[in-house]
Amino acid sequence: MANEKNLVYNQQSPNPRVLHIMLSFRQPLRHLCHINSSFTLPKRHLASAAPPILQAKPLSPSFGAEVDGVDWSQPLAPEVVKEIVQLQNRWGVLVFRQTGLNDTTHVRYSKNFGALETAHAINKPRRSSLPQLYDAGNLGPDDRIIPQFSRAWWHTKGNGLWHTDSSFHQHRSSYSALRAVELPPAGGQTKYADMRAAYLGLPNDIKERIEKLVVEHWIWHSRKLAAPQEFDKPTDEEKALLPPAYHKLVQIAPDGINKTLYIASHARRIIGMPDSESTSLIRALLDHAQQPQYQVTVKWKNVGDLVQWDNRCTMHRATAFQDQKNRRDMRRTTIHDHGPGAFGVKNQLLADDVDVLVGGKIDISAGPTPETQTQEQILAM
Ligand code: OGA
Ligand code: MN
Repeated sequence: MANEKNLVYNQQSPNPRVLHIMLSFRQPLRHLCHINSSFTLPKRHLASAAPPILQAKPLSPSFGAEVDGVDWSQPLAPEVVKEIVQLQNRWGVLVFRQTGLNDTTHVRYSKNFGALETAHAINKPRRSSLPQLYDAGNLGPDDRIIPQFSRAWWHTKGNGLWHTDSSFHQHRSSYSALRAVELPPAGGQTKYADMRAAYLGLPNDIKERIEKLVVEHWIWHSRKLAAPQEFDKPTDEEKALLPPAYHKLVQIAPDGINKTLYIASHARRIIGMPDSESTSLIRALLDHAQQPQYQVTVKWKNVGDLVQWDNRCTMHRATAFQDQKNRRDMRRTTIHDHGPGAFGVKNQLLADDVDVLVGGKIDISAGPTPETQTQEQILAM
């Protein structure tokens, strides 16, 4: 990797080292917000005259909010679900404290936002009887701490890299809703990055350069980055179960207004770009997006805390804790995206995107992208 720093990004552009230096000297977001009116946030309750039911307490000027006012003891009213979607579009990451949800009510709550993924249990057998719950903690099906250096332990290391959930699926996810069931006494916080702000903070020439790019996401790429020896060669079975997926790098955020970067440590390569150039650009964009001014850190305080984030405009990563000494039981639902980018780049490729694909070498055949579903349609499912 180190020698790639010297490779030229392309004939007209700075080399990746220069790009990196340029990117790392960007101004903090709050300055950008004042001087750049193109970063528009949707007004929260434009459509309804009724006062909001929920209260949002920002975690930073424009990213992340702690939300009060949800009555978790019963199914959510459609107006509350609508408000959560509006808050999600505005803040990207929502923190709900002490929800009191259990596995069943967690799954039921999540279905308010769309159909749920069946959590894959590759390398890490599922603990819960509910297939929609993904185990993000450090416990195995026997309820014991996953032993250090086991394949399941190495697999979990990938969560410590900046990523967005399910970008390695061709049908990507919208929200993830992660609930604390047992917390360690220290560490184990979760960090989030605002990819709309990160996109906005890019220099204009980079924005233009990346506008039409398509990225290959492959979970075995991030596993290998996190555990180079263990995942040097994923097995045939692993590869068959989770093949790569293709998504546009620059997308319209779920707020329908701002652009956002859709990238993650799962990003293996940019289609049609020489490998070294592609690796350098992916690294530069990931480095750029993880600068402190785009981040918030969520501290898990209590069992029952639930954090819901929008995978389409954020990245996140787990942080360390004493994982051989302390238990950390975290369960996550993942909601299928129903928006225009839900199925990524398939056979609905725009004609002007084709030039970034290597002539027909990649299988891009699959179903069409559905129209964006309304909240009413999703709720009716
Ligand atoms: C996840 C994840 C981070 C954490 O659940 O998708 O990456 O802090 N979790 O557990
Ligand atoms: Mn994750």
